[in-house]
Amino acid sequence: MSLRSFKQYIELLQLSGLSYLVTDFNKINIKVEKNKAEIEDDNYELSDHIVCSPNTDVITDEKFDELGLYKLKDKIQDCQKCGLAKSRLKLVYGEGPQTAKIMIISEGPGAEENITGRPFVGEAGKLLTNMLAAINLQRSEVYIANIVKCRPPKNRTPQQNEIDACMPYLQQQIRIIQPQVILLLGKTAIISMLKNTHPIDTVRDAQPFIYQNIPVWVTYHPAALLRDKSLKRKAWADLQKFRDFLIEKGIKEAL
Ligand code: URA
Repeated sequence: MSLRSFKQYIELLQLSGLSYLVTDFNKINIKVEKNKAEIEDDNYELSDHIVCSPNTDVITDEKFDELGLYKLKDKIQDCQKCGLAKSRLKLVYGEGPQTAKIMIISEGPGAEENITGRPFVGEAGKLLTNMLAAINLQRSEVYIANIVKCRPPKNRTPQQNEIDACMPYLQQQIRIIQPQVILLLGKTAIISMLKNTHPIDTVRDAQPFIYQNIPVWVTYHPAALLRDKSLKRKAWADLQKFRDFLIEKGIKEAL
C-alpha cells in the first residue's frame, strides 16, 4: 500500500465514523520504517482522534470496500473541509450504480445540482444524457461524479484548495466502483485527474490515458458545447472513439 493510499484509507475510516484505530503496523503491507520517514516529510499527521497502537487487528481492505458508496455519501453530507460548504444547499455526491463499468467525471455542481443534490440535472445535464444516448449508453448504467461536490459560487472554476479537499472523496468512489473506463468532461476534470494542463485539443489527440490502471478518455464539458456549438463536431468524434473502445473491450455491446 502506498503512503497516498494509506492516507486515503485512514481518512475514509475517519469519515465512516471510526474514532479510534488500533493496528499492527507489521500487518500492513507497507515498509514501516520508510513510511514513518515519509509521513514526517509529508507533514502528515494522523488525526488527533485516531490512535495507532501495536499488536492488534488490522482493518482490512475488504472491510473498507464493504462500507460502500452510500454509507460514505451519508458521512460526508455535512463536509466542512473547504469554503464551498458555506454556500452549499446540497452536496452532490454522485449518482449511478456501484457496479458501473463506466464512470464519468466532471467539474462540479451548478445551480440546479446544488438544489437537487444530483449531478447533471440542468441544461448541461440534458445534453450529457443525449450525448450518452448517442453512443447507446443510458444514464442509469454509468456512474456520474464531479471533482468538487459542492457548487462554486457563480459557477466559477473550483480553486486548487477546494479540489484538494474534495479529491479524496472521488478517489474513494473510484476505488469502490472500480470502473473499467473513465470519461473526463472538460478542463478541470482533465487537469485534476491527469495533471495534464495542455489545451484540451492537444489532450484529446493523445488519448486514452491511464489513471491507476484505468483507461481514461476525455472530451469537452457539455456546458462548453452549449456555449460554443462549433465544438460539437469534435465532441462527437471523441464520443465515437470512446464508444469504439467500449465495444472493443467488451464493456458495451455493439448496437
Ligand atoms: N456541471 C458539472 O460539471 N457537473 C454537474 O454535475 C453539473 C454541471
